[in-house]
Amino acid sequence: MEKQEIRTFGRRHGKKLSTRQKSLVRNVLPGIAPTESEQINILEIGFGAGEHLRELAVANPEKTILGAEPFVNGVASLLSAITNESNQILPEFRRIRVFPDDVRLILNAREFNFAEIWILHPDPWSKARHEKRRLLNADFLDLLSKHLAQNGKIIIGTDHWEYYDWIMNQIPNTNLRQTDSAHDIVKTRYQKKNMAHTAEPKYIILTHAA
Ligand SMILES: C[S@@+](CC[C@H](N)C(=O)[O-])C[C@H]1O[C@@H](n2cnc3c(N)ncnc32)[C@H](O)[C@@H]1O
Repeated sequence: MEKQEIRTFGRRHGKKLSTRQKSLVRNVLPGIAPTESEQINILEIGFGAGEHLRELAVANPEKTILGAEPFVNGVASLLSAITNESNQILPEFRRIRVFPDDVRLILNAREFNFAEIWILHPDPWSKARHEKRRLLNADFLDLLSKHLAQNGKIIIGTDHWEYYDWIMNQIPNTNLRQTDSAHDIVKTRYQKKNMAHTAEPKYIILTHAA
C-alpha cells in the first residue's frame, strides 16, 4: 500500500475460532477470493459479521458482491452463515467474494467499477488522539471515487453523530458530492435492519461531483 500508514481497524482476532470455523477459513475462504477476471458490482467495507453483506446478496442475485473485513472472527461468522454443514456455499450466496484484509490493499492493487460501495458503522475512533485512524478521510473517499462507476453511489451509515459531521466536512475536499436521493434508497431497502440495530442511523450518499 502506497501510504499504508495508519491502521483503521481494531482487533484482527477475537475469541478462538471453533473447529468448524477454522475449517471454513482454511477450505472455503480461498475459493471465494475475488479473481482478476470477474466483474464485481458491489463492495461492502468492514462487513463485521456479514449480516448486511448477506442481505445485499439476497437482494441482488445477479450481482457479484465483494466484502472486505480484516477481523477474522467476522469473516468466520460470515462463512458459517453462507455455508451448509458440508461446507458448501448456499446458492443465494454464491456471488459473494471476500477479501479478508484492509480494503485499501486491494483498492490500491486493482481497478474496479463498483455500482455501489457500502460502509456501515465505520469505526468512529472517538478519542481525539485516535482521529487519524478514521478511515473515511478525504484521501480514502477519493480512492473510493476512482473505483466508482459513473452513476455509482457510496452509501455510508453511522449512528456516531460526531463522526458523521467529520465525514461531511471531508466531502468538499474530495471528487464526490452528496446526493439527495440517499434517504429513500436506504429506507426502502434497509430500514428494517437499521431499526433493529441502531437508534437513529444517519446516512451519507455520495456520487461523483462532476
Ligand atoms: C464498528 S464495525 C461495524 C461492522 C459492521 N459494518 C456492522 O455494522 O455491524 C467496523 C468494521 O470495519 C472494519 N474495518 C476497519 N477498517 C477497515 C479497513 N481498512 N478495511 C476493511 N475493513 C475495515 C473493522 O474491522 C470492523 O469490523
